[in-house]
Amino acid sequence: KKTLDIAVIPGDGIGREIVPVAQAVLKEAVGDSVSFNYTNYDLGADRYLRDGTLITDDQLKDMDQKDAILLGAVGDPRVKSGILERGLLLKLRFAFDQAINMRPSKLYPGVKSPLADPGDIDFVVIREGTEGLYSGMGGLLRMGTEHAIATETSMNTEFGIERAVRFAFELARKRGGKKHVTMVNKTNVLYYAGQLWLWVMDKVGKEYPDVTYDYLHADACTIFLVTDPSRFDVIVTDNLFGDIITDEAGAVVGGIGYSASANINVTDEHPSMFEPIHGSAPDIAGKGIANPSATVLSAAMLLQHFGYDEAAARIDRAVEADAEENSSRKRSTDQIGQDIIARL
Ligand code: IPM
Ligand code: MN
Repeated sequence: KKTLDIAVIPGDGIGREIVPVAQAVLKEAVGDSVSFNYTNYDLGADRYLRDGTLITDDQLKDMDQKDAILLGAVGDPRVKSGILERGLLLKLRFAFDQAINMRPSKLYPGVKSPLADPGDIDFVVIREGTEGLYSGMGGLLRMGTEHAIATETSMNTEFGIERAVRFAFELARKRGGKKHVTMVNKTNVLYYAGQLWLWVMDKVGKEYPDVTYDYLHADACTIFLVTDPSRFDVIVTDNLFGDIITDEAGAVVGGIGYSASANINVTDEHPSMFEPIHGSAPDIAGKGIANPSATVLSAAMLLQHFGYDEAAARIDRAVEADAEENSSRKRSTDQIGQDIIARL
């Protein structure tokens, strides 16, 4: 019997309501084959407002010993935008070298897309997670004068691009569907980074003769995501383009209530982190009505990460069946959890 040590950051708002549901689903899905050893971390806006802690070095060291991190949501209108994002969420992604941000978009039957004719949407975005414009390289000069200058540098390494591109090709092969990788960037303007991304794509692409690939500018991609989303299989892109198109992708498949994500450390030297794409939803926090599905699906990605593909697929099917039958009904968080568990 295997034990997985999981760091849990329920975080703020609905995060605290949906994480326990995901834990209950995990337990049910694996039965006796795995036991989960959870350690809760009191982090997020509440903690920050209480004593100024975002995350300490000791906590990072401690979490580094865990197998994975399960995160609910962080954020609160009382905390200035950017503080928790940079001080906690991005801090974790960078500290644990979570270079692959994997974000599936699937339109479940029964979930309403805002598109009139959405078609069969089922694609995955592989967003590079530790470089690009998120690297924090830049500077602000002469602030307060009338000649202030700000620079923000997009950092792209061949190593970083290659691990994202390779992951995308492997995934396209494993999914066994269209077996197609679309690289999204803006190479007509990003002259230097664009050349490197395209070069790596051709280099890696040659190693996967069974997978086709093409390239799309990011602005054109936003159009196709609403006019013809079923054309996509696996998209690979940089950190900021990936951030933007995965929000759009989430909206196209009926909102972020079903959008899961994994922040993967490909070498397993550090823990990977699993989190829903949505935020802490302070407007409905505490009411017990948040939909835990995205967190449940993120927990399924956690299982998949450790090779429990069958249990992960069962969770996926249960959420899909639950959405098909019930997504238009008003149910409590716990009820949705029970309904999903009943289908496992
Ligand atoms: C996301 C979020 C984060 C990001 C923010 C909160 C820093 O938008 O996970 O997509 O930009 O990566
Ligand atoms: Mn985002």
